[in-house]
Amino acid sequence: MPTLPTVAVIGAGSSGIAAAKALHERGVPFTCFEASDCVGGNWVFGNKNGMSAAYRQLFINTSRDRMEYSDYPMPKSYPDFPHHTQIAAYFDAYVEHFGFRDRIRFETKVQRAARMQGGGWELTLDDGSVERFDALLVANGHHWDPRWPEPAFPGADTFEGVQMHSHSYVDNEDMRGKNVVVLGMGNSAMDIAVEASQVASNVYLAARRGVHIIPKYLWGRPLDQLGLSPRIPWAIRRKILELIIGSTTGSLSRYGLPEPDHRIGSAHPTISDEILSCMTHGTITAKPNIASLEGSSVRFADGSVVEADVVVYCTGYKVSFPFFDPSFISAPGNDLPLFRRVFHPRVPNLFFIGLLQPLGAIMPLAEAQGEWVGEYLRGRYALPPEREMRRDMDRERRRMFKRYVASPRHTMQVDYDDYLLELSRERARGHERARERGFTLPVAPRETRAREAA
Ligand SMILES: Cc1cc2nc3c(=O)[nH]c(=O)nc-3n(C[C@H](O)[C@H](O)[C@H](O)COP(=O)(O)OP(=O)(O)OC[C@H]3O[C@@H](n4cnc5c(N)ncnc54)[C@H](O)[C@@H]3O)c2cc1C
Ligand SMILES: NC(=O)c1ccc[n+]([C@@H]2O[C@H](COP(=O)([O-])OP(=O)(O)OC[C@H]3O[C@@H](n4cnc5c(N)ncnc54)[C@H](OP(=O)(O)O)[C@@H]3O)[C@@H](O)[C@H]2O)c1
Repeated sequence: MPTLPTVAVIGAGSSGIAAAKALHERGVPFTCFEASDCVGGNWVFGNKNGMSAAYRQLFINTSRDRMEYSDYPMPKSYPDFPHHTQIAAYFDAYVEHFGFRDRIRFETKVQRAARMQGGGWELTLDDGSVERFDALLVANGHHWDPRWPEPAFPGADTFEGVQMHSHSYVDNEDMRGKNVVVLGMGNSAMDIAVEASQVASNVYLAARRGVHIIPKYLWGRPLDQLGLSPRIPWAIRRKILELIIGSTTGSLSRYGLPEPDHRIGSAHPTISDEILSCMTHGTITAKPNIASLEGSSVRFADGSVVEADVVVYCTGYKVSFPFFDPSFISAPGNDLPLFRRVFHPRVPNLFFIGLLQPLGAIMPLAEAQGEWVGEYLRGRYALPPEREMRRDMDRERRRMFKRYVASPRHTMQVDYDDYLLELSRERARGHERARERGFTLPVAPRETRAREAA
């Protein structure tokens, strides 16, 4: 085997470890840099890195069988929607099982990643040391940098109560007997409103638009295991889903919630078994968007006013790469166009893993992405020409923006099964291209570059 390029992986969350395992198995030399003292990222409650959004009572909302890696099933003793402690333990066991923990440099944060003249990468670590690699794989997660309402609501600076983002929510202890306003209609808002309703005096769920509420279970099994093949056109799958949800949940206004302004599948799914029951019990009251905060009260867009002690902004996250020069790579409005959500068309030795929002779990997709990059680095996959990649990206983006509600949360949506199917087809096409090119390495190792330059 020829000398392979050296790779730096940033992050040992569920995306970084899936990619690291793929490199490990293919004999690609790599170092994985992890800011924390453990793997698992977001799924480690109270993670030392300060980046985890996990709260005490967090359970996954994508089912066990759809979340597990393809060659390492979660224990059958796990429930369909396990607790975060079980998920974190699973990721840790994965690294142990495949034996690459010694390739992870714990408690080592990448402060800066700069592309050098000639193409390699120079990483500056938090102890001030500098290391060089031939390729860079970014798996730093995209649910850790809170997106607060921008601009802030009028009067936010004068509000006498507590304003917090869902990222710092831990449990409902501080909400006991309080009046709580929860803003947003994503999964954080559902979970936090439901938890707050167990102890608070009043909970108001404020939203600028309605969403479809998808149950975790249907007909005695996880809804995401319904088995709607990607070979069935999306329009038909959507119709089936609409019939199912329409005939089970029915109209959301019957629960006091706003009706969605879009069809099912045009927003990232909001999954909750409990929110509708809270609505029917009257323990949560729906409100339109916040208009302003005034002293100890919150005014809503319909003019109604409530007393509030706590406002929880469940307003999502920013996609951030603090280690890149923003003029080189950034994601304004959460938008970073990539070829199949992995390859940067201008930078052939830079890859993103897990930087996508599937209708379904991220992990098996990150696993497939890691394998794809591994094949590329070994010369077993070749990219199409840049013009073709850009055409493909434009097509994907047009399709996504047409289908989804315009929002910074809908800039990298994919359908789980469709993505995996299309990726396997692209990998087969790229393998053929690589064969035609004699399986040459697309990213030359440093020694080869130095030899050529001499
Ligand atoms: C509350 C919540 C619940 C969720 N539930 C689900 C779910 O049920 N199913 C699902 O599929 N997804 C869910 N998600 C999405 C979540 O993003 C994924 O589950 C998963 O955590 C993504 O893994 P990741 O490795 O990409 O990112 P992360 O888990 O965020 O891991 C990133 C890792 O990179 C490290 N890192 C970051 N920057 C640096 C640096 N500069 N140097 C070194 N290391 C660095 C971090 O320390 C961390 O370990 C949820 C998200 C949230 C916020
Ligand atoms: N149990 C679980 O497994 C679980 C729990 C929590 C989160 N998650 C996951 O974590 C990720 C993040 O979820 P999230 O709920 O934190 O964020 P999110 O999905 O981005 O939802 C943000 C919500 O806030 C609204 N919003 C944003 N800015 C606003 C503003 N200025 N004014 C009013 N409303 C505003 C959005 O409305 P628009 O749609 O109009 O933009 C949306 O309803 C998702 O992948 C989610 O599935 C999973």
